[in-house]
Amino acid sequence: MAWFNLKKSKVLLRPDFEHLPAHVAFIMDGNGRWAKKRRLPRSAGHQKGAQVFRDMVRYCKDIGIKYMTVYAFSTENWKRPQQEVDSIMDLLRSYLKDAFDYREEEVRVKILGDKAPLAPDIIALIDKLEADSAQYDKMILNIALNYGGRAEIMQAVQQIAGEVAAGRLTPEQVDETVLEEHLYTAGQPDPDLIIRPSGEQRLSNFLMWQSAYSELVFMDVLWPDFRRHHLDRALLEYQNRNRRFGGV
Ligand code: FPP
Repeated sequence: MAWFNLKKSKVLLRPDFEHLPAHVAFIMDGNGRWAKKRRLPRSAGHQKGAQVFRDMVRYCKDIGIKYMTVYAFSTENWKRPQQEVDSIMDLLRSYLKDAFDYREEEVRVKILGDKAPLAPDIIALIDKLEADSAQYDKMILNIALNYGGRAEIMQAVQQIAGEVAAGRLTPEQVDETVLEEHLYTAGQPDPDLIIRPSGEQRLSNFLMWQSAYSELVFMDVLWPDFRRHHLDRALLEYQNRNRRFGGV
């Protein structure tokens, strides 16, 4: 795609697929509004959203994104009507069941979040998928499930405090690296790009630590209407920005 690079201005007109961000994260927002516009139950929006999610996994893997993270269910989402929570959990069940068998081979799946309150059959499916897909490295797919950014930092701090109390670490040894080793994303690079469709412009407790230097792209499309060309647009926006990480 280099010929689209206007040499003088360095403004790209098409994403440069040879220099993609390593880690792209998505806040899959707008499912409810998509359904409402069509006078459908909210669960229909999540169903369409899950189809879009599957296509994005395939597309990200095919173009060479190495880490993809999606916000599927937050620690606050339990407050939704039981029927809606059940519909999201059923979509997850179905994804976790067949992801390994035939759809997303070569993708390693990891769940970010506190699994304990999930239904036992979902925990078993997660454990199996995480173990079975551990051999793959084409892409790591993180699904944030019962996830909250502050809760993630809290549990890391609690674990570290325990290690200090047990004498395995001194307070002085606690640095950013130690904290990162206790996050759900341990060992992975921070997201370079976080995309939020649906017009909302906030992070909603998503990857609070990891997003310190992420580029944020907010788009007006609702998640169920999100297509590959929308991702291309976000990648282009990302590539036309100048990341300085606090430098000059
Ligand atoms: C936010 O839209 C979306 C969610 C809380 C659920 C996202 C879940 C899926 C896309 C399906 C399951 C996921 C996987 C990984 C199979 P919203 O309901 O808040 O939309 P609104 O703001 O328009 O109401």
